[in-house]
Amino acid sequence: AYEKLWLALALVLIVGFIGTITYGAAGAGIDMIDDKGGTVDPATLDQHPKFGDPGIERTGENSYDVYVVARQFVFEPGTTQPLRVPAGSTVTFHVTAADVIHGFEVVGTNANTMAIPGQVSEFTVEFGEPGEYGLLCNEYCGSGHHVMEGQIVVM
Ligand code: CUA
Repeated sequence: AYEKLWLALALVLIVGFIGTITYGAAGAGIDMIDDKGGTVDPATLDQHPKFGDPGIERTGENSYDVYVVARQFVFEPGTTQPLRVPAGSTVTFHVTAADVIHGFEVVGTNANTMAIPGQVSEFTVEFGEPGEYGLLCNEYCGSGHHVMEGQIVVM
């Protein structure tokens, strides 16, 4: 009789976890679609056509590319000024790091990646409704790690 109880309990927990994950993405109105990437030379990052002056660029009717450089202890862009994207847009993030390994997490969503020197992490997010999202570094990167944050404003 106890076995059935544990089985039922486990099932409830699993359903609960799936529900939480689904809600985390859908409830926040943004959804991470894919995760791929490439490489970049960290030594010449400042001369890179995209990462040399990172920011947002329009690629279609409702689609954008966003290039982000993480470095101790800021996201460029994102920290000194918010990253602004239009509501209803599909945004592909290209994230790399200039110095050490950082994290790039859109708080409250499943949009989350590592920012690694020499590598480009790519993922695509659909931004539905207007809102504000925090950005967080979730990999320990030095003395200022705990203050390394930023903001995305969906307009
Ligand atoms: Cu950057 Cu922790």
